[in-house]
Amino acid sequence: MTHRPIILGIVGDSAAGKSTLTQGIAQILGKEKVTIICTDDYHRYDRQQRSKLGISALHPDCNYLDIIDQHLSLLGAGQAILKPIYNHDTGQFDPPEYIKPQQFIIVEGLLGYSTQKMRDKYDVKVFLAPPEELRTSWKIKRDTRKRGYTEDEVLEQLRKREPDSEAYIRPQRQWADVVVTFYPPSNETQQSDVALNVRLVLRPTIPHPDFSLILNPSGNHLGQAIRLELDRDMGKPVDVLQVDAHTTVEQVRELERIFCNEVPYLKSYCSLEGNEDIGKLVGTTGEILQSYPLALTQLLTTYHMLKAANVQP
Ligand code: G6P
Repeated sequence: MTHRPIILGIVGDSAAGKSTLTQGIAQILGKEKVTIICTDDYHRYDRQQRSKLGISALHPDCNYLDIIDQHLSLLGAGQAILKPIYNHDTGQFDPPEYIKPQQFIIVEGLLGYSTQKMRDKYDVKVFLAPPEELRTSWKIKRDTRKRGYTEDEVLEQLRKREPDSEAYIRPQRQWADVVVTFYPPSNETQQSDVALNVRLVLRPTIPHPDFSLILNPSGNHLGQAIRLELDRDMGKPVDVLQVDAHTTVEQVRELERIFCNEVPYLKSYCSLEGNEDIGKLVGTTGEILQSYPLALTQLLTTYHMLKAANVQP
C-alpha cells in the first residue's frame, strides 16, 4: 500500500458538477479519510477588485496557480498547508485555515490542469464536461439559490466569462484521464438530474477496469443500458463507457463486481448493498433522488483512487 496521500483532480467550468462528484466520492471513501481542496480559494483578487480590473475568476492571472502547485506538492508529501479561503457569500477572503492531508485528497476547481507542474501532481485526473445548456441550468439553479444572484445576472456572467471558458477552461479536457459528460436522453422532454445518461471517456493514460465482459454481452445482464464503445476524443482514439439513465440497480451491481474483481478492497468501501447513499442527489425541491449513472461515475473514480493507492484488503 502507498502511504503518501493519493490526489484526485476534478476540474471543469463553473457549475459543471464538481462538488456533487467530489462529495459523492468522499462519502464512499469515508469523509474522515478525505481532504477536499477547492481551488476557488486561490483567487488572486476579491470580487470587487475583479470587477474593477475587468478580469474574470476563470483567467489564470486571476489565480495563484503557483501556490496551488506548491500546496499540491506539500499535501502530496503528507505535509500541512495554510490554505486561503475565498468566501462565496461576501466575495472576500476569510482568514486562512490549517489543513493536514488525509489519506485521499480531492482537488476540485477551475484551472487545476493549466500547467504541466500542476498536472504532474495528480494520481487521477477527471474533467467534467456537461453540455453547455445543462451547465447553464445548473449554474442558474445554484447561483440563484446559494449565491444570491438573479437569473439575469447569472446569464450575464456566463456571457462575459465565455471567452475565458473557451481559452482556459475547456482546453484542459485534453489532460484528463477520464472525461465525464452527463447529458439528457434525446427523447426526454422533462429535464431532471436523475434522468441523465453519462458518457465516460477513458483515456489510456491510466489503467481502467477490464470491461471485456461488457464486450461479451452473453456473459452478463448489462444489455444495452451499459455499453463500451470505441470513439475519438480531441482527435485521439479512446474507450467510451456509456451508462443510460434507466440502468437498473442489478446492472450497476454487475459492473461493480467487475471493478471489485480487480480492486477487492473496493467492496468494503462502496458495495451498493451496504451503501444505500451511493449516487444519491438532493433534488430541486429537496427530495432525495438516486442516479445510477452518477453512482457508477463515483465508483469508477473511487476504483481509480484505490488502484493508485494500491490498497490491499
Ligand atoms: C465562478 C466559479 C466560482 C468562482 C467564482 C468567482 O462562478 O464557479 O467558483 O469562485 O466564479 O466569482 P464570484 O461570483 O464569487 O464573484
